[in-house]
Amino acid sequence: MARRTDETEPGAPPEELVGPLERGLAVLRAMATGQGGRHRPGDLARTTGLARSTVDRVATTLVRLGYVRAEDRDLLLAPRAAELGNAYLSSTGLPEAVGPHAVALADELDESVSVAVPDGDGVRFVAQAARRRAMAISFRAGDVLPAERCAPGALFAAGWGDTEWEAWRARHLKDPLDTGFPSVPPRTSSPSASLSASASPSEAMEAVEAVEAVEAVEAVEAVEAVEAVEADFRERTRRGREDGWAADDQLIESGLIAVALPVHDPAGAVVCAVSVVSHTSRHDIGSLAGFALPPLRAAVAAMEAALAAPAASKAVEATTAQVTAEPTGPGVAALKEELGAGFLQSLARGLDVLCAFGAVRGPVRLAELARLTGLPRATARRSLITLCHLGYVREDEDGFRVLPRVLELGHARVSGLTLVEIATPHLADLVLRVHESASLAVLDGQDIRYVARVASSRIMHIDIRVGTRLPAYATSMGRVLLAALPEGERAAVFAGVTPEALTPHTVTTPEALAEAVTDTARRGYGWVEQELEEGLRSLAAPVTDGGGRVVAAVNVALHAGRRSAEESLGTLLPHLLATAAGISADLAAVSRWSPVRVS
Ligand code: PHB
Repeated sequence: MARRTDETEPGAPPEELVGPLERGLAVLRAMATGQGGRHRPGDLARTTGLARSTVDRVATTLVRLGYVRAEDRDLLLAPRAAELGNAYLSSTGLPEAVGPHAVALADELDESVSVAVPDGDGVRFVAQAARRRAMAISFRAGDVLPAERCAPGALFAAGWGDTEWEAWRARHLKDPLDTGFPSVPPRTSSPSASLSASASPSEAMEAVEAVEAVEAVEAVEAVEAVEAVEADFRERTRRGREDGWAADDQLIESGLIAVALPVHDPAGAVVCAVSVVSHTSRHDIGSLAGFALPPLRAAVAAMEAALAAPAASKAVEATTAQVTAEPTGPGVAALKEELGAGFLQSLARGLDVLCAFGAVRGPVRLAELARLTGLPRATARRSLITLCHLGYVREDEDGFRVLPRVLELGHARVSGLTLVEIATPHLADLVLRVHESASLAVLDGQDIRYVARVASSRIMHIDIRVGTRLPAYATSMGRVLLAALPEGERAAVFAGVTPEALTPHTVTTPEALAEAVTDTARRGYGWVEQELEEGLRSLAAPVTDGGGRVVAAVNVALHAGRRSAEESLGTLLPHLLATAAGISADLAAVSRWSPVRVS
């Protein structure tokens, strides 16, 4: 029997809750589930029921910590919000064990493959290997579906007892149209009373009676409808248990079909389900099952073997995740000093505790969480009581475990961000600081291709648009991107181009070009002085993903005549490197467990 002395008892007394943490999470949740990505603080006060001044303090803290971004008068979830869901995903070990097989299966079948976990009476996606197709909606890691409306739900419900079915029924009765699941189209509604404004008191009376009559009929119909849905769901659950797989024949929307298999951990518990998703334009449910089930079975066997294999060195795992769990920039205490009463220290600490779960596979003890966060045990414990109370963490005999519900704190929204969306606010910020135009480019064959750009407001700015291609050899971003290539690939690029003297300064000999690229790699930034165009100076830095791979370059371009080279370098380089580091950190958070598209 595990020791429980230091740990929390279930049903924690409310006075032990950390109010600012509870309120901070309420704001994050409201931002994640609300319509659109932009939120006015006043609207957040309304949806959360918090005082406007409280929302402001929460927002100040979340902005300073990097979970939220302020733009004009709006608040938006920032890429760092992905860290909360990442903590859950890392702690499960699922993405490494299951993700690669899901991707391989999607490639083999040329259909989307998704992985979902049970989350109460819902089904929450944790990984997607999507085929982009025009016809079907697709879900993102973090999205939640009603269990009765998707294939994995019938597999998870096979393990439900009376309590779980009760909870499911209560939810479904309360929200029969699934409005609490913003990522699915609502169920088609039952006939409703639409009454026009009444002209006279007697008409008004009649209207009220009519409404009451309709409501009474509707209440009976609603119960009948819920019973019908339940009977159908129970039948599909029974079949799922019997057959070992489940189907979704257009439960979410017309045309969308799926088959799913459960994935078991070594102890035999269902940990997730893998679905192959198709469309009635390509398959009916029978042909999809015939086509997809055999390779799906093989993929699941491989996933179960990966789950059973001893986890990759726990120590290595801990070091990597610990880095992500640490607050970027100044520590919590320094921020408190800087911002005073405007900074909610206990919110910051609670979020650190949540992130720290990502450093360890499986359950974690209080002492370890305290060590990982550098917090006193009593402080970490209060955060844990709050997180357990809100359903983000559960305490078992073997320690605390972070739950899939943390994915509701914005993961779906930020895990879908593209590199361009991640980088653009950083570019805008750089332009404000240096008053020169800033861009992001990727390597595309022998060229660089501009994918994002923020122009300065100078009258004379350099006219380059997104989509512009320029020869990599003559640009600072090209040099940065070439410098990051493995030797063989770099040689192949050089072999395919004949550098032209675009200006009298352009480096054109193979030896000098190779040297320029080597210099770039050694310095860590690219510098091109009037080689592409007379009078044009450009400075570039690499943008890396979480694995340290260079995926893009960021630059500032300016007229060479305005300042000496040394002056330009001295004033611009620190800002440019900080911008590249900021984009890279955001990209690391977002791309930890989800692939990030460029645009
Ligand atoms: C999906 O991944 O989009 C999906 C999975 C299972 C379903 C429906 C959709 O039942």
